[in-house]
Amino acid sequence: MQNNPKILEQLEAWVEENKGHAILGTTAQYIPALGKVDPSQLGICMVDEDGNYYCAGDTDKEFTLQSISKVMTFIALCCHYGLEFVLERVDVEPTGEAFNSIIPFEIHRPNKPFNPFINAGAITVSALLPGRTSQKKYEYLASFLEELVGHPMELDREVYDSEWKSSHRNRALAYYLKEANFLEIEVEEALDIYIRQCSVKVSVKDLALIGLIIAYDGFNPITKVKHFSEEIAQVAKVLMVTCGMYNSSGNFAAHVGIPAKSGVSGGILAAVPPKLHSQTYEFRAGAGIGVYGPAIDVQGNSAAGTMMLRQISKEWDLSIF
Ligand code: DON
Repeated sequence: MQNNPKILEQLEAWVEENKGHAILGTTAQYIPALGKVDPSQLGICMVDEDGNYYCAGDTDKEFTLQSISKVMTFIALCCHYGLEFVLERVDVEPTGEAFNSIIPFEIHRPNKPFNPFINAGAITVSALLPGRTSQKKYEYLASFLEELVGHPMELDREVYDSEWKSSHRNRALAYYLKEANFLEIEVEEALDIYIRQCSVKVSVKDLALIGLIIAYDGFNPITKVKHFSEEIAQVAKVLMVTCGMYNSSGNFAAHVGIPAKSGVSGGILAAVPPKLHSQTYEFRAGAGIGVYGPAIDVQGNSAAGTMMLRQISKEWDLSIF
């Protein structure tokens, strides 16, 4: 697609229109370092298959990946061990419960966690990353991320420390996982790698690029590098549609219809697959989207970000359904 200045103008207008929806949420208070961030920010970046970036609003600030990291950890693990190995250890079923709920685990006593995007499944997946120590596991993930975005990604120490100190619920979940024999490593080690992956700093531009690679089934159409298989990308997109926005995934699918993953820092990663029969010209060949809006709703999704994606998807006919 040729660089089109009208797209940028349009995105700038939609950021302004949707900013006010931040009042429908608050910053994540349970992680003090996230709780103190300015909730009124809203930014978006979209990238197309030719590498044209369209960035509007608050796009220069970095924020932490939080749950968005769960997509990349899942993909990285599948690349190393194969999809079959991973799906033997974590399921692909939505729970309809909050991302950090203990209820599905306690009530159903499943033989593996329901999916890799709820915290129970994500801690299990992180602990399986190759390497004997959490440091080695983190290094594996960090180099996978670096290959994807083309530069090293740093850890936000303040967010890591803040979450480590306030992670009582995740610690409790990890003990349940340990008791069920889902964790081969110690609880503290599993929490360390999980919280590290959540504390990786990212920009909306990085998220947009990762979204584009997922939309293109593991292939980066800009650099022409193949990062992971179609098979892995397909399952990642299924998980993003069914579990990516937690217990509002159904609503998000109905109103936005784009495979996406949110994080409590207010980030959203979205992968728009090519749609050649689309009614509109914009992003017909697919796109990657990164959004940042730190005021999150009760389900843990960026309040203004979700509303903005709703508008963009409708206006540019981006829904996959
Ligand atoms: O484990 C937690 O609670 C956070 N580090 C991540 C949760 C999260 O981002 C859920 N997302 N919407």
